[in-house]
Amino acid sequence: MNVPAAEERVTKMSRTQEKSIEDDEINLFNPAILDRLPISHVSGLLIMPLRSTDYDKGFLVLLSQLTDVGNVTKEQFLNRFYSMKTAGGYYVVVIEDVNSGKVIACASLVVEQKFIHNCSLRGRLEDVVVNNNYRGQSLGKLVVTIVAQLARYFHCYKLSLDCVDRLVPFYENIGFKRETNNANYLNMRFHSENATEQSRL
Ligand SMILES: CC(C)(COP(=O)(O)OP(=O)(O)OC[C@H]1O[C@@H](n2cnc3c(N)ncnc32)[C@H](O)[C@@H]1OP(=O)(O)O)[C@@H](O)C(=O)NCCC(=O)NCCS
Repeated sequence: MNVPAAEERVTKMSRTQEKSIEDDEINLFNPAILDRLPISHVSGLLIMPLRSTDYDKGFLVLLSQLTDVGNVTKEQFLNRFYSMKTAGGYYVVVIEDVNSGKVIACASLVVEQKFIHNCSLRGRLEDVVVNNNYRGQSLGKLVVTIVAQLARYFHCYKLSLDCVDRLVPFYENIGFKRETNNANYLNMRFHSENATEQSRL
């Protein structure tokens, strides 16, 4: 048997398999859930769960308009994507411009399981960003509203967020409220020498 040729065949086969695994479009969560929500769809825009293919559709470039993302490779992205999918409780919603094939807005719902309030669920709104060429067209409001609808769909008892002072009116406009005696926001930041600089948000 020609061993090098056989090895080459195996290598080629595994490369092909790797490629097909990477190229398969996997949803972070079941897209049928979004179909059950009263979402106002906009022509030319696709509202989807984050997909494994969104690395190539500029998802991280979009996030870099929010904060420092770092040099995340496709492999790192996919590892984190599948880790979130396996863990459950991560609902990243993206809006894609069908013409450009790029992700132009996103927001995340993280569902935290509690013992309190009869083993309830608490939602957290995270990583809201609209591409700067698409701002002012109500897409921020749309993607945040979808996350709020998702939180309600999962029976979260509340949805909370952290934001800079200047964005409080944006969120109040969507229905979030500063609660008297209950609107503090404190951080303890952990900096490691090896870690990329931690997010300021
Ligand atoms: C904040 C952000 C998501 C808003 O997106 P957007 O698509 O431009 O916002 P919308 O067009 O949906 O605005 C919805 C409403 O909020 C208002 N609004 C938008 N940005 C606002 C701001 N910075 N401050 C106050 N109000 C704001 C709009 O005037 C609009 O009001 P209206 O409904 O009365 O017309 C976008 O500016 C962004 O991505 N910024 C950079 C990332 C960021 O800071 N994300 C938030 C992290 S907490």
